[in-house]
Amino acid sequence: IHQPLTDGFARRLTYLRLSITDFCNFRCEYCLPNGYQGKRPDDELSVSEIATLVHGFAQVGTKKVRITGGEPSIRRDVVEIIETIKQTDGIETVAMTSNAYKLGKHLASWQAAGLDQLNISMDSFDAATFHKMTGFDTLPQILADMDTLLETTDIKLKINSVLMAETAFENLIAAIDYVKDRQVTYRFIEFMQTSDNSDLFFAQHAQSDIITDYLLEHGWQPHERGSADGPAVEYSHPDYVGRIGMIAPYAAHFCDTCNRLRVSSQGKVHLCLFDKGNYDIRPYLQQNDIQGLVNTLHSFMPIKPEHHHLHDSNSGIMHNLSIIGG
Ligand code: GTP
Ligand code: 5AD
Ligand code: SF4
Repeated sequence: IHQPLTDGFARRLTYLRLSITDFCNFRCEYCLPNGYQGKRPDDELSVSEIATLVHGFAQVGTKKVRITGGEPSIRRDVVEIIETIKQTDGIETVAMTSNAYKLGKHLASWQAAGLDQLNISMDSFDAATFHKMTGFDTLPQILADMDTLLETTDIKLKINSVLMAETAFENLIAAIDYVKDRQVTYRFIEFMQTSDNSDLFFAQHAQSDIITDYLLEHGWQPHERGSADGPAVEYSHPDYVGRIGMIAPYAAHFCDTCNRLRVSSQGKVHLCLFDKGNYDIRPYLQQNDIQGLVNTLHSFMPIKPEHHHLHDSNSGIMHNLSIIGG
């Protein structure tokens, strides 16, 4: 066991976000407004490369791995990937972020493989709006599959929805109703500008306080974020089983408790979601060189940025979030 990863701002990096494919079958307009993504790349990390990767990260203190994409469930070996990560010494939690396309078909195998947490991207409770935003008419099925998940598994469920001016209020009212009797956290994510989505961004970006002001006025209480918590602030209410959350990346201090590193589906480390640089660690994975990987991860610690640069007007660095899974 090696020294745990701690960056230049004394932040412990215990959380790995691993993208296993850039490809997504959905076309959410804020994410992939330019539609067709082209051919699916054929150089995604293999299961054995992922095994080496996670083993190395676990040796330097990673406790939680979130599998992202693109859409991770389009990989046929996703079950093997969940299993491999779950069985790695030192990893306590395996999570995944998915658009839940065909959740019903996969649920039992994901649970059996050891999935602990699932975050589902679902931007509307209205079937027509959902179809318009994603290009798919699967909303009724996703809603039914989420209920099956809640009734038959102990996978912890969160819903993500991107905060848009046009849909904010109807989503808030529907979400409050949805979490009344369901143990789910429904989270709004403040719309982030990327170089692909500027037009929509300027038309639809809304401040997080349009949601949080309403919650505070209606008896919802915010929970303090602990140092090991993610970026969301969650609100609860005595009459509701579930929670409503807000991820507001433009807010000050959002990055103070950052605990995460990202690796792309091609084996490149991203030290921050919106950082330009990325660092190839694939050679270590191909050679199963855990010691080399561990040393390299330590060498990144002095250069992990203190915060993102979303505030800079010309920060349209990322094309879209499907490349690194948010
Ligand atoms: P848990 O806390 O483990 O539930 O995960 P999460 O909320 O970090 O994961 P999820 O994949 O559901 O991400 C939700 C949203 O938060 C995505 O839009 C991410 O882009 C955003 N997000 C997560 N981490 C960061 C971060 O470090 N910086 C920024 N700017 N956004 C982030
Ligand atoms: N701004 C905010 N959230 C985004 N996501 C994708 N693109 C953006 C964006 N530009 C969200 C997805 C998913 C999560 C991983 O990232 O909806 O829930
Ligand atoms: Fe796919 Fe997620 Fe991007 Fe939507 S937000 S297009 S589900 S990668």
